[in-house]
Amino acid sequence: MSDYILKVENLKKEFQLSKTRKIEAVKGISFEVKRGEVFGFLGPNGAGKSTTISMITTQKEATSGEIFIDGESVVRNPALAHKKIGVVAQHNNLDRGLTARENLIYHAKYFGMDDAAANERADEYLEKFGLKDREHDYVRGFSGGMAQRLKIARAIMHNPDILFLDEPTTGLDPSYRAILWEQMLALNKAGTTIFLTTHYMEEPEQLCDRIAIVDKGELKAIGTADELKALIPTSNIVSIKLADLKPDFAEQAKTLPEVENAIIQNDVLLLYMKHEHPDFNQILEWIKTLNTSLQNISLSTSTLDDVFIHITGKEIINNGEGK
Ligand SMILES: Nc1ncnc2c1ncn2[C@@H]1O[C@H](COP(=O)(O)OP(=O)(O)OP(=O)(O)O)[C@@H](O)[C@H]1O
Ligand SMILES: [Mg+2]
Repeated sequence: MSDYILKVENLKKEFQLSKTRKIEAVKGISFEVKRGEVFGFLGPNGAGKSTTISMITTQKEATSGEIFIDGESVVRNPALAHKKIGVVAQHNNLDRGLTARENLIYHAKYFGMDDAAANERADEYLEKFGLKDREHDYVRGFSGGMAQRLKIARAIMHNPDILFLDEPTTGLDPSYRAILWEQMLALNKAGTTIFLTTHYMEEPEQLCDRIAIVDKGELKAIGTADELKALIPTSNIVSIKLADLKPDFAEQAKTLPEVENAIIQNDVLLLYMKHEHPDFNQILEWIKTLNTSLQNISLSTSTLDDVFIHITGKEIINNGEGK
């Protein structure tokens, strides 16, 4: 048995937007996911994350490339691969004309579970995800968070070998976010590989064994959180607190010769310097020209957020929207 449950080789997806306009949403990416790991797949909006998941989970056809799940080609034998995967898609794909319980039971039966097992598991998950009192209601009347919880319950009804979660915590309140992760980690412990996309950086930092960062359809980096952090120098981020921080200061700072990138985050101006141990004099001279007083200036150590910004040039903000 191979160490890898998923292997993606030179995977591409083109979309024909009009007669003359085509976009390459996924530009030939290759990576492997180890059996039993929690794998994070991060990237800004439009990076190609959901498109990649759709191809792996047989919902969209690849333009070219290969995908193997458990050694079986998804491209050549989608039906076989389908049995081994669970998917929580980014969009709501529940059957709105069925009740919550029916959504779970029909799904389980489709995957070959018998009545007793399907009903037993439906009871367990309806209880766990706080939907027991709504089990006989039609899904079309569900709130966003309730639908999200049901989507998660449905995806794990049939004990998938690998579970794809495309921004699963978006729309969940903090208590259900905790329940989701408790449940996912229990599944992972029992052997399910987890493939996760999220815009909440603390999730991959805490939960993922390895993380891939994608941008504009390309794989930019892959490794453990510590390996990714080691990709960027730790002492090249200068954080500056000013009495009056104006939005255009970041743009201005980018024109300084030693500054690679600049952003404003939580009322702090962060300068990503080209070199480690930067010379503060040049920065201080510039601050003097801003007509505001300096409250604090310091060197920071890198976080996964910094790696993301360094690699993609974009800030991740915690409402599911990239910038
Ligand atoms: N069905 C489609 N038809 C045309 N273009 C598409 C289609 N689906 C995705 N795209 C395009 O492919 C690119 C990647 O989209 P995708 O949904 O995979 O991004 P994502 O990384 O999941 O982003 P987000 O963080 O916003 O969910 C985007 O430019 C998008 O407009
Ligand atoms: Mg997406």
